[in-house]
Amino acid sequence: MPFPKADKIWMDGEFVDWDEATVHVLTPTLHYGYGVFEGIRAYPTDEGPAVFQLRPHLERLLRSARLYPPLDEITHTVADLVEVVEELIRVNGHTAGCYVRPTIYLGYGEIGLNPLPSTPRAAIATWEWGSYLGEDALIAGVRVMLSSFRRIGKNTIPPAGKANGQYLNSSLAKVEAIRAGYDEAIMLSEDGFVAEGTGENLFCVTDGVIRTPPLHDGPLAGITRAAVIRIARDLGYEVVETSLVRSDLYLADELFLTGTAAELTPVREIAGYDLGDRGPVTEAVQTTFLDAVRGRVPAYRDWLHVVAS
Ligand SMILES: Cc1ncc(COP(=O)(O)O)c(C=O)c1O
Repeated sequence: MPFPKADKIWMDGEFVDWDEATVHVLTPTLHYGYGVFEGIRAYPTDEGPAVFQLRPHLERLLRSARLYPPLDEITHTVADLVEVVEELIRVNGHTAGCYVRPTIYLGYGEIGLNPLPSTPRAAIATWEWGSYLGEDALIAGVRVMLSSFRRIGKNTIPPAGKANGQYLNSSLAKVEAIRAGYDEAIMLSEDGFVAEGTGENLFCVTDGVIRTPPLHDGPLAGITRAAVIRIARDLGYEVVETSLVRSDLYLADELFLTGTAAELTPVREIAGYDLGDRGPVTEAVQTTFLDAVRGRVPAYRDWLHVVAS
């Protein structure tokens, strides 16, 4: 996957050159995964690049930090970080949109397992990133396996946060899927209910009703998930948050994944069960979503934060 450099990365108040944006090899976050992050997308609109749900993403970043003291001691507010993202998009010249990656991590200075004496640091990077699951995935859909890895348990690592270390779980499931010839993996919860993909929420369409796992089954409270639920209801579909088991997926009329990276991607095969081409419900919700993020749906205009030039 291409990973194009931009000019600058913001690190605790300074815009530093991309290649100079480094941390010490003994920074404890590198060793123990004790940090939090966000993934955000900006899209091109008629008014310029616009960030989708910028404040909700930054609020989730600071909520994640509250789960992991002393990351919550970071002094930047959501309002500060909004300004940084705007400035970074301008400085890096992302007129056609970009991906935005804020992170709060532990600064160099301590190396024990107790993070409390460490100092939290913040950084935000942006770069131009195309479709996450492949160029034609948005139309053709992806092949998904059921992972042999369970989604991290609620009392193992809080699924409500986006902590760096929890992505060991996602990456193991992703590697297993790629090695088995699939594009993506769905993980079940410890008690056997469908949780989510490795970096996406999951929706299941049966007899015109859209179902998605409730948060108590362990998925991240996806910001795209919330937007898609609103869109689907506005389009007149019934959307239910309810526990799903694996056979619900095998028997579904349609399945799709949502997330900042994957946007809204149809699933065309689940663990050997063929679901066929993108279905009508998936297409209707996806079309509205992809229009909304590009500023073409007035009802959802307040989801976008336009970056003035
Ligand atoms: C594990 C996981 N689930 C779901 C999502 C989708 O969340 P969002 O729509 O907020 O990007 C993500 C991406 O952040 C994720 O990492």
